[in-house]
Amino acid sequence: MEGLEEARARIEQASRVAVLTGAGISAPSGIPTFRDPGGLWENFRLEDYATPEGFAKNPEEVWRWYAWRYARVRQAKPNPAHHLLAELEAQKGDGFLLVTQNVDGLHQRAGSKRVVELHGSILRARCTRCGHTEPLPPPESFEPPPRCARCGTLMRPDVVWFGELLPAGALEKAQAAFAHAEVALVIGTSALVEPAASLGRLSKMAGGYLIEINPEPTPLTPVADLSLREGAVEGLARLLKAQA
Ligand code: OAD
Repeated sequence: MEGLEEARARIEQASRVAVLTGAGISAPSGIPTFRDPGGLWENFRLEDYATPEGFAKNPEEVWRWYAWRYARVRQAKPNPAHHLLAELEAQKGDGFLLVTQNVDGLHQRAGSKRVVELHGSILRARCTRCGHTEPLPPPESFEPPPRCARCGTLMRPDVVWFGELLPAGALEKAQAAFAHAEVALVIGTSALVEPAASLGRLSKMAGGYLIEINPEPTPLTPVADLSLREGAVEGLARLLKAQA
């Protein structure tokens, strides 16, 4: 496959590589995506569980949902796609950045260090009053909703909800990496949620080479230089392992 050979050569030669991941990369670890058939937004109303208004209306229910997801994430293990990206980072060093929309911490558990979490982390709670953040206790001893150890106020999941700003500096860092990337890889995202959805386009506009890995076409497919129409594990193995 000619496109695949070129993509491999580009990755090998590139000193600046930016990667964006979405829920699809954690699907092989058993974590449900949002918009696939049977995905979370099919069974739970986004307005109720992923907006500040939904939390204000029913914090107990929202916390029950996040505690359930948190327990699943803690049980899950990083899969070979997470590990392959950690290996790529080790090869590229300073010129590498991994931007994720995922809140599950699996990239870090696979050994990735240069990670920007655009949508926060499900492993932490944040005080709704003073902003203090804390890691959640182990799922067995976690009793939601948590209260702030500093001021006693109700805490919320430390994730980004619809209508909210991204964590300070995260978007700027992500945009700079994608604008300067010689190769950009977009893996396992429906590319429907902004501003993450536009990062791949940013690379293209700046002359970068854009690779997408997703079993389904996305709005990014028409602008990608190469679209691997397969799962993250299979796609990354073919792309990053010469003889895979
Ligand atoms: P989505 O659920 O929107 O999209 C998941 C994508 O993964 C789809 O395009 C699938 O085709 C693809 N996919 C499924 N299995 C895969 C596999 N094994 N390998 C690779 N790709 C696979 O998830 P995101 O794009 O991450 O935000 O969603 C973006 C944001 O919307 C999330 O961060 C979350 C959500 O609402 C917030 O909650 C703020």
